[in-house]
Amino acid sequence: MTRSRKNQSPPDFVGRPVWAEISLSALIGNLRAIRDYVNPASEKRKAPRKVLSIVKGNAYGHGGPQVAKILEKAGSDWFGVASAGEGIEVRKAGVRTPILVLGGFWPGEEKNLLQHNLTPAIHRCEQLLAFEAAAAKLRKKNVPVQLKIDTGMNRLGIMPKDADCFARQLAKCKHLNLAGTFTHLASSEVLTETELGHQTQQQLDRFYSTVERLRTLGADPGILHIANSAAIAARPETWADMVRPGAILYGYHPGFDPPERRTEFEKKLPLRPVMSLRARLMSVRCIAAGEAVGYDATWIAQRPSRIAVVSAGYADGVHRSLGNRGALYVRGHAAPIIGIVSMDVVMLDVTDVPDAAIGDVATLYGTEGSHVYPANVVARSIGTVTSDLISGVSQRVPRFYLS
Ligand SMILES: Cc1ncc(COP(=O)(O)O)c(C=O)c1O
Repeated sequence: MTRSRKNQSPPDFVGRPVWAEISLSALIGNLRAIRDYVNPASEKRKAPRKVLSIVKGNAYGHGGPQVAKILEKAGSDWFGVASAGEGIEVRKAGVRTPILVLGGFWPGEEKNLLQHNLTPAIHRCEQLLAFEAAAAKLRKKNVPVQLKIDTGMNRLGIMPKDADCFARQLAKCKHLNLAGTFTHLASSEVLTETELGHQTQQQLDRFYSTVERLRTLGADPGILHIANSAAIAARPETWADMVRPGAILYGYHPGFDPPERRTEFEKKLPLRPVMSLRARLMSVRCIAAGEAVGYDATWIAQRPSRIAVVSAGYADGVHRSLGNRGALYVRGHAAPIIGIVSMDVVMLDVTDVPDAAIGDVATLYGTEGSHVYPANVVARSIGTVTSDLISGVSQRVPRFYLS
């Protein structure tokens, strides 16, 4: 659903009044800011660095196919998804830009990838021959694949010592083309002079020596990419030929160590939150001091109080651990969440929100006019990261794409 910004009133729709507003101008602005940042005018390069927009996890909750469609128009060079299924959804939206399937494929999925023109990340040597066989069967030529190298995260990717095996297998694959080689950083947000703070450099060294080994063995590694959000913001030495922003595309710098460095990167690479999660007050009542609210009576009124029920619960993406901790913004005031978050509703203390009434809009995070209620602050308050919080906005919450 796309609406114009001119109409500032909340979206009109049938269903429970809980929704996410996705700001197209913030999303496109963030992509441009990232692209400009990794292509400083002072640096002379033959070709500008590319951007692979990470749209996995339903584009961190923003709507994978819709976000990819918007970012394709705005010039994203590649997209990154977790699985063939996510990639197919993006293709069905009409996106033609290359899509990298970061999780690779399960045996049997090769045909799906080939039919939808999805590029798998090869993270085990034996996947090459399986994909080659499928490409040969469908008579496809020059099919792109990318190689993921595990440089220290010990998650997915071939180990540097397996470069020889990979190059040998690749030489047998007449229908495949190695379009790119990449790795993923384990702790790029750690900027301290510690062992962890030096892990990124160690990963870079392993990456480039493996790439060199591939070249020596006659394999062209294709486009090289390494950097996630923290590395994009803080470590130009990781930018290579392309960068892979996730969190920053959606408006949030990751938490850095030390935390003070965040302000520096917010200044250098200013971003705007893309999603605002909102719901309406569906009930407002007064209760006497001493009365309890919600399951297990975990909140007890210390004074005569006005209690609002908001039509958003944990099945919508209001994290249950926000119970008795977080706040929603109503008429510009922070109204504390009281009691345990229920599946479909959450209760607020609106005693100090003058005139709070049924139908009022409550914002969990995002923007309201010129105010920003940052999701990273909400995430931090419950000990998680912004990406976890925003990608938890569930399917039953309608998304409105505002121009
Ligand atoms: C391989 C890969 N690259 C890039 C990203 C984007 O990470 P971030 O959200 O930190 O930018 C992810 C996300 O987990 C990823 O798995």
